[in-house]
Parts: sequence; C-alpha cells; structure tokens
Amino acid sequence: SKKIVVLISGSGSNLQAIIDACISQQINGVISAVISNKADAYGLTRAQNANIQTHVVDHKAFDSREAYDKVLADKIELHNPDLVVLAGFMRILTPEFVQRFAGKMLNIHPSLLPKYQGLNTHQRALDAKDKEHGVSVHFVTEELDGGPVVCQAAIEITAEDTADTLAARIHTKEHIIYPLVVEWFCDNKLTMDNSLVFLNGEQLEATGIR
Ligand code: GAR
Repeated sequence: SKKIVVLISGSGSNLQAIIDACISQQINGVISAVISNKADAYGLTRAQNANIQTHVVDHKAFDSREAYDKVLADKIELHNPDLVVLAGFMRILTPEFVQRFAGKMLNIHPSLLPKYQGLNTHQRALDAKDKEHGVSVHFVTEELDGGPVVCQAAIEITAEDTADTLAARIHTKEHIIYPLVVEWFCDNKLTMDNSLVFLNGEQLEATGIR
C-alpha cells in the first residue's frame, strides 16, 4: 500500500475523510504523517486520535519562503511518501518544493478551476452572481492553483446562499471527491506526465470533468 503524507493548516475535515477512507480500505494507503504549519490546527488532533505521527513546521520561525520550504520538504521526505496530499494547507509553495514532489502531490481547491484561484472563492462566486460553484482536486505544479484538474464537483448557488452555506455544501463534496482521487492514485490508476493527467491510461482534459 502507498505511503501518504498530508499537509494541513486548519480543521482537517478533508484529512478526516482520507483517514476514514484508509481505515475502510477504500484507499489502499497509509498516512505516515500529518504536518501542519500551525500548532493549533484541529487536524493535528484528528491525526493523533488516529495514531498518526504529527509534525508542526511553523512558518513564522523562518526568514524566507525558500528556507521554510526546504525544511518542510526535508520533513516530508523523512517519511519517503508515494503521495503528498495538501488538505487545506494555506501556503504558497516555491518552485523548488513543487519540483521535489512533481507528479505525486495533490491539492483541493474550493472553486471550479480555472475560476477563482487564490482566496475567498465562495464570496467571489457570489459577487460574480455565478449560478454554480464547486471544488477541484488537481495535481500541484509551479503555477498557484494552476495544475491540471483531476476531478471536480459542482453545486448550485441559490438566492439564499452566503459564503458560509456555500463552504458547508462544498465541504460535503470535498469529502467525497478527495478520497476518491487519492484512491485512484494509490491504485496506480492516476498519473501526471508533462502536466497532462491520465486516468486508467486515458488522458483527462484539463477542465470540465464532473
Ligand atoms: C477546504 O475547503 C479546501 O478546499 C480549502 O480549505 C478548506 C480546508 O478545510 N483549501 C484552500 O482554500 C486552498 N487554497 P479542512 O481543513 O476542513 O479540510
């Protein structure tokens, strides 16, 4: 089974979904470690409750993004993972960091990429009067939130929605699609080559997968 390292900054509900999918054997993998840049991230408690090793690498202790990412990458590589999962890890990554895990790092982003890269995606979808919103799982490349999309889930936006109601409905979708994509990766069904994604040997389009 595959070795997975998960990076978090906060609540870790996506981490929990992946922990649960490993326990149920939906995912043929083991989470070797959970690493947070914040000592008070609730996801660290989730990891400890599941007997998963945790590390905190606090970005505030470093002078530069490069110095931080070097220590973070070294910490990850201690576990020699097959897959690095970014699950609400709220840091921009240096090209050097991304290159060290090329083709084996996934991120989840709460928008229908390529729409709304960056922050405050729910409010931006509301402000634009979008009729739909969603979430994307993608391979990480040097371009922020720009790597090739593997899987998306969409929700309808209603007149009553707020950023909070959208976030809640997005979360329920995230907890389905992120374990699914990790399952594919751990079953050797999913690869990235030259920024192209292949599922079961067939190339996926960069966007529009539902
Ligand atoms: C998730 O909604 C994820 O899509 C988002 O952070 C949340 C983490 O929730 N990620 C980003 O915004 C990345 N830029 P969680 O800690 O409960 O998994």
